[in-house]
Order: sequence, then structure tokens, then C-alpha cells
Amino acid sequence: MRFAAVLLTLVFSAAAFSAEDTDGPRYTASGSLMMPANYREWIFLSSGLGMTYGPNAPAPDAPQRFDNVFVNRTAYQSFQKTGIWPDKTVFVLEIRASQSKGSINQAGHFQTGVAAIEAEVKDGGKWTFFGFGAGDSAKEAKPFPRTERCYTCHAQNGAVDNTFVQFYPTLLPVAKAKGTFKDPEPK
Ligand code: HEC
Repeated sequence: MRFAAVLLTLVFSAAAFSAEDTDGPRYTASGSLMMPANYREWIFLSSGLGMTYGPNAPAPDAPQRFDNVFVNRTAYQSFQKTGIWPDKTVFVLEIRASQSKGSINQAGHFQTGVAAIEAEVKDGGKWTFFGFGAGDSAKEAKPFPRTERCYTCHAQNGAVDNTFVQFYPTLLPVAKAKGTFKDPEPK
């Protein structure tokens, strides 16, 4: 009797703990990804400036944008130990406009408003891409169809399991040390 009560308490406290602690993906009933509200408190991996890699690259004289990459803390901690992304990994790619002249700044670039937000989730062993569209007001995003270019470019060119660890300076040495880094084919 007493044993059962203790067991129940343990089960309930474990459930409460994991519900509070999770920073994995959350979905709507129809399978859209809900915007992770606190992604700015996740691990910041890097910021690319004016990177162009797709056929729809902007004109060379177009204003450059920053890509800020965040990953959830649980996945990051696991990657540090193994060099592998665990299930329930969530990446957020926050694309921001840039400005050069402003306030006291004379040269170089600083970041301004959000242009678009995209995400990438590993769930049930497979990766899915999501687009929150322009700006930062969308609360949920539908998955991109598997025929979308996101899937092929990431699978072919990402250095670690679909992701561009070759561009994230704090993760690159971890993946190399753990032996999970694969050099993508030179273009
Ligand atoms: C032609 C190649 C290419 C295509 C197509 C592409 N990406 Fe990426 N993606 C990259 C590169 C390169 C990076 C890393 C550099 C950066 O932008 O900071 C990246 C980074 C990302 C990241 C950060 C996590 C990671 O994998 O490193 C997300 C999220 C992302 N892309 C989403 C998308 C979505 C959604 C689409 C489709 C709508 C897409 N990408 C299409 C090349 C591509």
C-alpha cells in the first residue's frame, strides 16, 4: 500500500519534471510546428552574413542579410557528448536584414528586423523543414513537402546529418573529434 503510494508519487513527479523541462518540438493537431517562443534563449551557433548558396541567390549588390542559427539546449548538450543530433533536435534559422549607416556606425553591418524564420526538426529519426514565412509574427508553420529543395541540399551538403556544422565554429571541432564530420563534395 505504502509502496504503491511512493511509486505513484515518483511517476507523477517524473512526468511533471519532463513536461516542464522539454525544449523539443511542439505541434498543432494538424501537424504544423508551433513557433518555439523562447528560441532566443537557446544555443546560438553562428551568424552568416550575405551567404549565397542556392540558385535563387540575391543579386551581388542586394543588401546583405544575416542568418542567425539557434538549436535547442537539450540537443546541443547531447551533440557535445556524441557529435550526433538526437531525436527532438530543433533548429531555428532567423534571417535578419542588415544596415550599415545608423547611429554612430560608419562602416560594417549591424542587424535589424526579422526578414523570415525557418526551422528544421529531427523527429522519429527523420528531418522535416518548416517555414514560418516573412517577418516574425507567425505562430505555426506547415512542413515543406519532401520534394522541396531544402531536403536535397541539406542531405547532400550538410557536414553532419543534414546540418551545416561546417559553418558553426564551435561545433566543427566537436564533430571532427567524434568522427561524425563528413566533408561534402566540393562544388
Ligand atoms: C542550396 C542549399 C540549401 C537549400 C536549398 C536550403 N538550405 Fe538551409 N542551409 C543551407 C546552408 C549552407 C546553411 C548554413 C549556413 C547559414 O545559412 O547560416 C543552412 C542552414 C539552415 C538551417 C540551420 C540548421 C542547419 O541545417 O544547419 C535551417 C533551419 C535551414 N537551413 C532551413 C532551410 C529550409 C526550411 C529550406 C527550404 C525552404 C532550406 N534550408 C533550403 C543551405 C541550403
